[in-house]
Amino acid sequence: MTDAQTLRSRLAEGMPPAWRDSFLKVPRHLFIPDTVWVRGTDDRPYPLRREDDPARWLEVCYSDAPVAVQLDDGDGTGSGYVSSTASMPTVVARMLDAADLSPGLRTLEIGTGTGYNAALLASVTGIENVTTIEIDAVLAERAATALERAGWPVEVVNGDGEKGCPKNAPFDRIMATAAVRTIPYTWVEQTRADGIVLTPFGTAFHSGALLRLRVSSDGSTAQGNFGGDAAFMWTRAQRAPHGAVEDRVLPDHDFDELTTGLHPHESVGDFDGSFAIGLRVPAMTSVVVFDDDDPACGSYTVYLMDPYAGSWASWRIEPGPMTYVVRQHGPRRLFDELETAYSWWKEVGSPAHTRFGLTVAPGGQHVWLDTPENEVARP
Ligand SMILES: C[S@@+](CC[C@H](N)C(=O)[O-])C[C@H]1O[C@@H](n2cnc3c(N)ncnc32)[C@H](O)[C@@H]1O
Repeated sequence: MTDAQTLRSRLAEGMPPAWRDSFLKVPRHLFIPDTVWVRGTDDRPYPLRREDDPARWLEVCYSDAPVAVQLDDGDGTGSGYVSSTASMPTVVARMLDAADLSPGLRTLEIGTGTGYNAALLASVTGIENVTTIEIDAVLAERAATALERAGWPVEVVNGDGEKGCPKNAPFDRIMATAAVRTIPYTWVEQTRADGIVLTPFGTAFHSGALLRLRVSSDGSTAQGNFGGDAAFMWTRAQRAPHGAVEDRVLPDHDFDELTTGLHPHESVGDFDGSFAIGLRVPAMTSVVVFDDDDPACGSYTVYLMDPYAGSWASWRIEPGPMTYVVRQHGPRRLFDELETAYSWWKEVGSPAHTRFGLTVAPGGQHVWLDTPENEVARP
């Protein structure tokens, strides 16, 4: 069995040079619970217990992948929804890098999870400068114990990170490791002038990009660009309602039918295109269902759904023809909305997501393209 030290060195080698030392100093396996959840070939989560297979458990702890540590908010009655992970190390490293940390900076992490990232933060800023907040009481307590035992006893608060942590504010940095669709203004209020708020930001349609906001010199607004893929689980209050296609697309639903030459590769499958569409089309999720559950077969349906209005569209793709049949049901015409947003994105030159930015002010927030005056969406 490869020992933890060897695995840790291997993981650290893959990190940005400035962070290698921290990844060596903080042993990830000390933060991972004895039972984790791994995907089976049927894509369902199965428990992997340390006592049953210590070598595999350790490999999982040091894989450059997210490790699922809780399902269904810990109540065991849900559909197997992953509600907490130790985030993917290279993504964590990218976020830490973007946070521009240095010793002494007071930092708040939203979403303690296992506590691993809080220890990495503390390795640079100092244990006494890190506060981490977790909404789930069981996870918060477990992380506090792990942090203590591993030698990084930062302050763990059990609470709603969307409200920040007023008792320890102001912070130089706020770093969320759960994604949002709108920025809680409290994060701006609790960050010092010229400080940084860093968070994964997504939409119902797009899994998310990293957003780095700089707080203005008077402390009242924050502004910055998106940069890089950052797919995280949502904060609890900003999750989209769960629900499978078969719950939303019912056999007795009426629909209109049209044909289109637009292929999902160009819109749903393109990171920048789908980022822009998600900004312009609110509350629209997408699910791809392959015939016979076989991605290789080339026949599939893309479902667009609004879980609030009960609208859906199905977009049928078959190998061969260059036109595809679309059906639309409900008060919203979701495919039409997607096509309009996609055409807009093409017309403005198919900008990369990095050309978009967000401004948060006391009265609201808006997404812009290239310059803050060029508003293109309100999240
Ligand atoms: C991807 S995990 C964080 C990983 C963690 N930073 C680590 O190093 O293990 C996201 C965490 O955010 C927590 N969370 C979700 N909504 C929250 C909220 N409003 N306030 C605080 N924590 C929240 C979840 O319970 C989950 O544990």
